[in-house]
Amino acid sequence: MFLLAFVHALSLFQAIAAHESIQNILASLNPGLQFDTSLHNSESCKQTPPLFPKQSTLDQALEELFRTDKFKKQTANALSTIIRVPTVTNDDFLPVGQDSRWELFGDLHTELQLLFPLVFSSLKVTKINTYNLVFHWQGSNPSLKPVLTTAHQDVVPVEPSTLNQWKYPPFSGFYDGTWIWGRGSCDDKSDLISQLTSIQSLLEHGFLPIRTFVFAYGIDEESAGTQGAGKIAQYLEATYGRDGFAALVDEGYGFGIPYGGDILFAGPGTGEKGYLDVHVEVTTPGGHSSVPPRHTAIGILASVITTLESNPYPLDLSRTSTAFQQVECEATYGPLFPSSIRDLVNRVQHNDSAALVELARALVDLEGMRGRLYEALITTTQAVDLVTGGVKVNALPEKAEAVVNYRIAQESSVSAVQERFTSTILPVAQQHNLTLRAFGLVVHDGSSEGSVTLSTAWGNSLEPAPRTPTNLGSESDEETRPYELLMGTIKAALKASPEYSNKEVVVMPTLMFGNTDTASYWNLTKHIYRYGHFSEKAMYNGEHTVNEALNADALVEKIRFHTKWILNWDEAEF
Ligand SMILES: *[C@@H]1O[C@H](CO)[C@@H](O)[C@H](O)[C@H]1NC(C)=O
Ligand SMILES: *[C@@H]1O[C@H](CO)[C@@H](O)[C@H](O)[C@H]1NC(C)=O
Ligand SMILES: *[C@@H]1O[C@H](CO)[C@@H](O)[C@H](O)[C@H]1NC(C)=O
Ligand SMILES: [Zn+2]
Repeated sequence: MFLLAFVHALSLFQAIAAHESIQNILASLNPGLQFDTSLHNSESCKQTPPLFPKQSTLDQALEELFRTDKFKKQTANALSTIIRVPTVTNDDFLPVGQDSRWELFGDLHTELQLLFPLVFSSLKVTKINTYNLVFHWQGSNPSLKPVLTTAHQDVVPVEPSTLNQWKYPPFSGFYDGTWIWGRGSCDDKSDLISQLTSIQSLLEHGFLPIRTFVFAYGIDEESAGTQGAGKIAQYLEATYGRDGFAALVDEGYGFGIPYGGDILFAGPGTGEKGYLDVHVEVTTPGGHSSVPPRHTAIGILASVITTLESNPYPLDLSRTSTAFQQVECEATYGPLFPSSIRDLVNRVQHNDSAALVELARALVDLEGMRGRLYEALITTTQAVDLVTGGVKVNALPEKAEAVVNYRIAQESSVSAVQERFTSTILPVAQQHNLTLRAFGLVVHDGSSEGSVTLSTAWGNSLEPAPRTPTNLGSESDEETRPYELLMGTIKAALKASPEYSNKEVVVMPTLMFGNTDTASYWNLTKHIYRYGHFSEKAMYNGEHTVNEALNADALVEKIRFHTKWILNWDEAEF
């Protein structure tokens, strides 16, 4: 996964809460009633109770197993083993078959087969594009749609200059009794290991599923996704049909305590922002710089950039967006959520549309990173990330280029961003009498001597993901049952955990700022959840950075979740 904004947001809120003297605030709350219930009776952010599998003997037997030290050690060792196979992907990888660097994935499969012999012998294993793994676990009732669970086998590279900052070498997989160290320990080999361990444990206990379960593991989530999830998606759609799955869980956000009061918020991603990279190229005549024009290509490009930056995207918060659902949950159940903003949420719930505008503003105006995170949640963001131009100090630049990165708001689109980009910078092209070509169309016919050309850089564009049905009032019960099953499963997994059993849990829909393999899986089901079942505390130092390490207890928590997810779906009749 690219970004753990939710979890980072959680720690940030924790820091702020501590700063605002959490003790005083909590002391003033009735200990029996840990959160503000002013909106508690509303229909917003509906919560359902924990959902424990009815096969309680099996569930209990597995829980007992999961609580043993031996099990924890075995699981930690399994993760260590596969961390030691450095399945790094890079942006310059050629397709499978044309690049020997993919061959390490074969070594990974060998290790997996040794670790999970029963899974490999009991489930049907299909290799897609040589190295993607798809496991099919046949259920006895073929009329029930299968459930799909996914993770990725690849990891990001380690920056060589940071090697000396790692406490243990990044591909050592060293387990020190608490932490499992190495690249992939958090992202995403722990999901892979926890899912396979759940299957193996269920098999060992004689479980025979009624529903079919499918597990799919891609090989290039951290780069293009075309050799991995893209190929898996084609296979799955051809094999199981369009909309052929009841639900899908992939990596994503986890849980934490962002608003004090000991209340755990779990935030499955039920939407993803869209993505676009815009390449801007300004060309002007060259020549000697002793007799320059007033504006060189670089000056004009600078003007394009400042024009873009002085026209940020307006706030765009709609009642039906994932962003609003998230804020609704925070306001409803977060003890330390700012009360003035809670009042605005309340007004929006009473159909006060002016309050929606005020709410968006108030969220963005929160101090520091808090406001920035809300802004990213409710707008299309724009970042000028690359710029080049000029070759020599006495030569006029004939070309200057920039790339601007967009993360597109849920209710916008790639074409809307392209159109706004074009109309925003049109005056610059006109002012300099330059021809403006935007995404294949000539928008302004200027001098033949210079031009501004806009295009999608590297073909990188992605529409915002369709919103997963959740418990929004307008949706039918039928549509929201998978979400309720997820919510109940998360709560049951936390209730069963020695560490979290005494916590109150709120499950809220969240919008992901980055993208996962699920971007390839939209045709397979509407019910897509990007959820990792782990807390920020589970990580020593985050993902994609030095000292990536996962707490071994957290690995067991993931197994708890995946096991109950399978059992609960096996008992569901929808
Ligand atoms: C808000 O409007 C919707 C649809 O127009 C309506 O169904 C709902 O009852 C209204 N809610 C309130 C609190 O007025
Ligand atoms: C813009 O360029 C065109 C083509 O070279 C020229 O005919 C026209 O006069 C120029 N306009 C201005 C305002 O300089
Ligand atoms: C989903 O299906 C549509 C229509 O068949 C197809 O054009 C599109 O590429 C598919 N999307 C993915 C991500 O596979
Ligand atoms: Zn990942």
